Amino acid sequence: MRVVVTGGAGFIGSALVDQLVKRGDQVLVIDNFSAGSEKNLEEAKNASAKELVIENCDIRNSETTKLITDYGPSVIFHLAAQVDVRASVEDPLNDLETNLVGLIRVLEGGRKAETTKIVLASSGGTIYGEPDSKQLPLNEDAPWNPLSPYGVSKLAGGLYVNTYSSLHGLRGTTLALANVYGPRQDPHGEAGVVAIFAGKLLNGEPCTIYGTGMQTRDFVYVDDVASAFVAAIESGDGKLLNIGTGTETSIQYLYEEMALASGIESAPEKGAERSGEIERSSLDPSLAKKILGWTPQTNLRDGIHSTLGWFKSKKEESS
Ligand SMILES: NC(=O)c1ccc[n+]([C@@H]2O[C@H](COP(=O)([O-])OP(=O)(O)OC[C@H]3O[C@@H](n4cnc5c(N)ncnc54)[C@H](O)[C@@H]3O)[C@@H](O)[C@H]2O)c1
Repeated sequence: MRVVVTGGAGFIGSALVDQLVKRGDQVLVIDNFSAGSEKNLEEAKNASAKELVIENCDIRNSETTKLITDYGPSVIFHLAAQVDVRASVEDPLNDLETNLVGLIRVLEGGRKAETTKIVLASSGGTIYGEPDSKQLPLNEDAPWNPLSPYGVSKLAGGLYVNTYSSLHGLRGTTLALANVYGPRQDPHGEAGVVAIFAGKLLNGEPCTIYGTGMQTRDFVYVDDVASAFVAAIESGDGKLLNIGTGTETSIQYLYEEMALASGIESAPEKGAERSGEIERSSLDPSLAKKILGWTPQTNLRDGIHSTLGWFKSKKEESS
């Protein structure tokens, strides 16, 4: 099958590309390498160099529409995005241009190429806002209440996908991802606390926990998330589906598990609570199970081990 992965050189996108080339799909990656890297695609290139095409292109650019039209994919996975919540507050126009103008460029490519399906990466941690704790884990009926321009652009993206489906027959599924972690996550980025802790623990630097440490997140392993995208090729049309574990993990507990796995006994440093962050988060994956047949396969302890193992091997390679 011919497929396009936008943002395919990034953390989640490259894990998805790995699975697609293993399935025997022909893959066009569109990425401007603002955060992603060719290195993330080395495994996929080694597995199937001739089935993988990589285009350095900005999704805001009309060239994106042409690339997709010319390639003629059956399925588009749209993951390229401005991913930083704080940056979206600082520069909402940039967020809008990448996350919505960019999306329209991609959707137009799909429309012209008569693509059958688009799967969009949305964000369950931001589209629902601060949840009513009695409703946790949140299912897809939870009210939308994004608290940042990023949350708004991710929410609107799903609505555009639905609109293209009713107007042009381009079927769509929107996946509301929880906190994704695993190999290749940027330890310097804003989003990934697991990657930040992994980088610091392996360098022998102290980790900082902001606020009480009792704030919770739903950590879902990157390969499981990539499998959800693959499962959505055949199912989930017209649906918004939560992709999480349904389990809340406190940042304090996460630190303790990661420190234990790294053989480090020191306590974390405490920092002032950061404004604008939600207190608790977890997403109910029941609907994804029912519709996609998807459930997360990797428990947190195993996921932490493989993530730390990957960061360690990268550190050894570079020293
Ligand atoms: N990581 C998470 O926990 C998480 C949670 C919810 C949703 N998401 C969504 O999943 C998707 C992938 O996120 P990720 O964590 O892999 O981030 P990432 O930054 O690793 O990947 C994003 C990719 O998009 C590319 N990109 C950014 N702007 C672009 C542009 N204008 N044109 C072309 N390419 C561009 C980057 O170079 C990068 O390779 C995003 O849509 C993000 O919003 C991620």
